[in-house]
Amino acid sequence: DDPGLVDRFARRAVDLRVSLTERCNLRCTYCMPAEGLPVIPSDALMTAAEIDRLVGLAAGTLGVRKVRFTGGEPLLRADLVDIVRRCSAHDVELSITTNAIGLANRAQPLADAGLRRVNVSLDTVDPDVFAEVTRRPFLDRVLEGIAAAADAGLGVKVNAVLLRGVNDHLAVDLLAWCLERGHELRFIEQMPLDPGHAWDGATMVTAEETRALLGEHYRLEPDEAPRDGAPAERYRVSTLDGAPLGTVGVIASITESFCADCTRTRLTAEGHVRSCLFSDDEVDLLGPLRAGADDAVLLETWRRAMWAKPRDHGDDADGIVHPSRGMSAIGG
Ligand code: GTP
Ligand code: 5AD
Ligand code: SF4
Repeated sequence: DDPGLVDRFARRAVDLRVSLTERCNLRCTYCMPAEGLPVIPSDALMTAAEIDRLVGLAAGTLGVRKVRFTGGEPLLRADLVDIVRRCSAHDVELSITTNAIGLANRAQPLADAGLRRVNVSLDTVDPDVFAEVTRRPFLDRVLEGIAAAADAGLGVKVNAVLLRGVNDHLAVDLLAWCLERGHELRFIEQMPLDPGHAWDGATMVTAEETRALLGEHYRLEPDEAPRDGAPAERYRVSTLDGAPLGTVGVIASITESFCADCTRTRLTAEGHVRSCLFSDDEVDLLGPLRAGADDAVLLETWRRAMWAKPRDHGDDADGIVHPSRGMSAIGG
């Protein structure tokens, strides 16, 4: 059996995240500057055929079991349905992380092409606060996209970043909205992944604070299901008098880091292996692929890149590494 993508700390990467573009049609304040970021020339991005080849190696030889397409905004790739269709030929579960703008038109074609799940970034269902966080007035389009995804039979989770004084007072409303629709909501601690390096520990709403906020209106009990290296810690949610309502997750990247059990490997939109969200050491796979490298060379390059994966991203909010590339470039 192939050892797969193992690192020096005996972790094995079985989840692949592939960024498809750095572009986005929102400008979330914690992710991008208002003016956006320099656009990568499209011929530097992996094509559908190149993605298919690399996903095939990951699934066929390296033991990768889940592939998630991210961005930037993956729906901005005109060939997303084609990418999903090609990759569905491999033995992997396919999902996307998206802001859902434009999903209304493509949810069904994506489901038909083999997509299983979507994780939608949605920080609030209040239109004014949405416009403040994302710097765009597109809440209606996001909600249409989510509804279409559910109608197409796709699994839907919602990701929210709480920002102190901006949307944290609406955390309970957002949870109620998700519980009513049966979408699992996860609250994510804000990470220092904005290219402007505006992050500071004081604006971050911690997992503990989030649990306390929710605890005023709901009862939360840890879910017993094994976590398996997933970023989210899950809780069963019920009313204060005990009626079950659903589940909620908390992704405590900073204060309760889950690096020790990390199962992730990443490809940037330019086809570089990124062993960790926080590590700037990227290893180019697309260059060798375009130069005609055979499978053995590509596999060996990917393995070596992952062997060098760092242990973690620093111990606490002060010691954390601020990578030079932002979230939209790395793919979350
Ligand atoms: P599923 O559990 O398969 O639904 O996916 P997921 O939760 O891994 O994916 P998603 O893209 O929804 O990620 C949710 C949040 O977890 C995002 O904010 C990610 O940036 C964060 N996250 C994912 N992987 C890592 C990681 O390796 N390290 C850290 N610190 N955060 C991560
Ligand atoms: N900190 C935490 N989460 C972030 N995301 C984007 N930037 C940050 C950040 N600085 C989230 C998005 C999306 C996911 C891929 O990452 O909201 O849900
Ligand atoms: Fe776009 Fe996602 Fe970044 Fe928001 S967080 S600007 S939706 S890439």
